[in-house]
Amino acid sequence: MQFYIDTADIEEIKQANRRGWVDGVTTNPTLIAKTGRRNEDVIKDICKEVKGLVSAEVISLQADEMVREGLELAKIADNVVVKIPMCEEGLIAVRRLASDGIKTNVTLVFSPLQALLVAKAGATLVSPFVGRLDDISTDGMSLISQITQIYQNYSLNTQVLVASIRHPIHVLEAAMIGADIVTCPYKVMQQLVNHPLTEKGIAQFLKDAQSMPK
Ligand code: G3P
Repeated sequence: MQFYIDTADIEEIKQANRRGWVDGVTTNPTLIAKTGRRNEDVIKDICKEVKGLVSAEVISLQADEMVREGLELAKIADNVVVKIPMCEEGLIAVRRLASDGIKTNVTLVFSPLQALLVAKAGATLVSPFVGRLDDISTDGMSLISQITQIYQNYSLNTQVLVASIRHPIHVLEAAMIGADIVTCPYKVMQQLVNHPLTEKGIAQFLKDAQSMPK
């Protein structure tokens, strides 16, 4: 399973990259706005840091505009993936960008049938949001199982990128289902490392090492 980092913060990307946790990056307008910088400038800097795919989101809602924005974003670097919101116009844009060889990631996916349409449109990635489904008392992870099953049934090539990850259990469940990619905040990546018994064990080993003859 690939690990993407869900951030537009270059320092976080550098730190996670140093630890080998960055197979790719996802951004969205909310994350870019936090940087106080232009979308294109942030994406350019991220692409300098990372070899894997970097999702950069369009902000238009009309297919023609989405395609125009997408082509501009795709010029920034070879690893840019154009992120498009799930809607009828978005699916038209995905189809057109795909026929031009541009990679796309359809975001804000909340149902398996939306994901089926995304794959039929020829998207590279689909982003189902598990945390936001959990927030409204729906089981986000069952969406991942459904999408994975449908894609297997019809040998669809779109990769499942589990988004809106809030805690390590989301990562565990995505891995158990066999999702292709998870995109996590840096904080969740760090949480994956820790275990209280590991910390206790390290403290004990260090203590015992003190008693060894010098
Ligand atoms: O990048 C999209 C996604 O991961 C957003 O997560 O926590 O805002 O629902 P969240």
